[in-house]
Amino acid sequence: MRIAVLSGGRSSEHEVSLNSGASVREGLAAAGHDVVDVRLERDGTWRHDGEELALHPAGGLLDADVVFPVLHGPFGEDGTVQGLLELLDVPYVGSGVAASAVCMDKLLLKDLLEPHDIPQVAYGRPEDGPQGFPCWVKPARLGSSVGIVKVEREEDFEAAVAEARSYDPRVIVEAHSDGLEVECSVLGDQVSEPGEIVVLGDGWYDYEAKYTPGGMALEVPARISDTARERLRFLALEAFTLAGCSGLARVDFFVDGETVMLNELNTMPGFTATSVYGKLWEASGVPYADVVDRLVALALSRYEAERAARY
Ligand SMILES: Nc1ncnc2c1ncn2[C@@H]1O[C@H](COP(=O)(O)OP(=O)(O)O)[C@@H](O)[C@H]1O
Ligand SMILES: [Mg+2]
Repeated sequence: MRIAVLSGGRSSEHEVSLNSGASVREGLAAAGHDVVDVRLERDGTWRHDGEELALHPAGGLLDADVVFPVLHGPFGEDGTVQGLLELLDVPYVGSGVAASAVCMDKLLLKDLLEPHDIPQVAYGRPEDGPQGFPCWVKPARLGSSVGIVKVEREEDFEAAVAEARSYDPRVIVEAHSDGLEVECSVLGDQVSEPGEIVVLGDGWYDYEAKYTPGGMALEVPARISDTARERLRFLALEAFTLAGCSGLARVDFFVDGETVMLNELNTMPGFTATSVYGKLWEASGVPYADVVDRLVALALSRYEAERAARY
């Protein structure tokens, strides 16, 4: 099949996406697909072979059978590109418009999951004030730990809110969890073995720890009890389903003894062959090329199911 891989994008995760895109293109080629490389520049233009693309509603994208938008953050993972792909009328990998938008927004996702008894840390808006100390102040719709501040003292709260607001007018304030950070990958209706994030420096899981080689280690299986493991895998699929996701997600938790709390759900997680998403599948017996190949098949079946509806 002919698969167009979108990478880059307008968000601060542009470089991360370029790396993810390169791996996905390799994986798709290894699975036997023809790959079309589409770059989304930081200024928002779309290019293929250096040429700027003109997009036409219902016109598809470069004759691709499926589009794989390997884009992180705003203008890519948040439903905007998904909406554009719907209008182009082409099957695409991953969640649709609504689920992408909800999961990108930490406040919206938490509000959606709260009535369904998915355990989460206490949270609120800046006007609700700090959630004890330390607490966490974050841009609601970003990723890669950009703009996040851990606030230790009351007098630092307002500056943290201002910092987060400089990235996003929507800001979330969360209570601190002392739990281990444990993540798992969802692929269709399958959930991987959970893995534990071990930060190797003395800080938290910030941008540097995430992207500096040697900044973190993934411990698989996570050092948690069997009960916590099963609970986490159950909650991951529950949250995925409640948020209306499709295809894939990486679902991140805090695990404190037997207490498992959902932190966030990423509809397009970091996707290099050494990113957590792929490594967890590898540890669960599914090689990277199989993961991307399955995602293409899921994209096609979702497209067919949705286009069979009458609207
Ligand atoms: N409530 C919290 N308690 C403890 N640590 C947190 C909390 N919120 C965030 N962190 C730390 O900050 C990191 C990034 O926060 P996260 O909400 O996952 O944002 P991002 O979308 O940028 O990954 C987490 O992986 C964790 O290390
Ligand atoms: Mg995170």
